[in-house]
Amino acid sequence: MHPSPSKAEVVVSRPNPAAPSEPSVPQARLRLLGISGSLREESLNTALLRAAQDLAPEDVEVVIHPLHGVPLYDGDVEDRGFPDAVVALRDAMASADGLLVAAPEYNHSISGVLKNAIDWASRRPDPPLDHKPTALLSAAGGSGGQNAQRHLRDVLAHNQVQVIDDVVQLRRAWDHVDEGRLQTPEHRQAVADLLIALREHVLWARDAAVDASSVA
Ligand SMILES: Cc1cc2nc3c(=O)[nH]c(=O)nc-3n(C[C@H](O)[C@H](O)[C@H](O)COP(=O)(O)O)c2cc1C
Repeated sequence: MHPSPSKAEVVVSRPNPAAPSEPSVPQARLRLLGISGSLREESLNTALLRAAQDLAPEDVEVVIHPLHGVPLYDGDVEDRGFPDAVVALRDAMASADGLLVAAPEYNHSISGVLKNAIDWASRRPDPPLDHKPTALLSAAGGSGGQNAQRHLRDVLAHNQVQVIDDVVQLRRAWDHVDEGRLQTPEHRQAVADLLIALREHVLWARDAAVDASSVA
């Protein structure tokens, strides 16, 4: 497990006169926010996020933000101000470098829990989904979550989310998870590979943003 996150942990290396031969490599720690579209204690999708925590590269930290307590979207409630659980979710998304969305497949699509969270996150001002690098994982039945992910991509594209092409889709997921842990080596490798791909995308997007601001 990685130590708990803090903004203060973001380290930018500075030239050290005592060690002039050391290359100056920025070592920014990346924080990925994991959200699971299933609330149940023994959720196989949440187990995928736990695997991501275990398998994250050295400079990547995965924080799971549970969606319990996020109320059903209600425009009248929104008019009175975002509820605390919604503020917490939006803040967690905004401060993350990227998202890991674990999407169960229900009836050929995404769960209501996940869609509801996205609906709250999509609202102005400053929707935290905007341009957020994101990777999708699913633990499902025979489909492996491919239908849920197809619909999810549409929803996220509508919100200008940068969803990477690489995915994890676990068919008959119950065969591969035991005691809340993803067991099968090939699926653990798939999760590790997905994290590396998302990390690359986050770093690329960061460089592109720096380049764009230096041109402006
Ligand atoms: C209401 C409901 C509908 C489901 N529909 C599908 C489906 O269309 N395709 C599929 O592959 N699995 C389907 N499943 C199986 C779930 O994807 C599977 O049980 C998954 O593990 C649920 O996620 P969780 O373990 O994270 O709670 C469905 C399950 C439920 C409860």
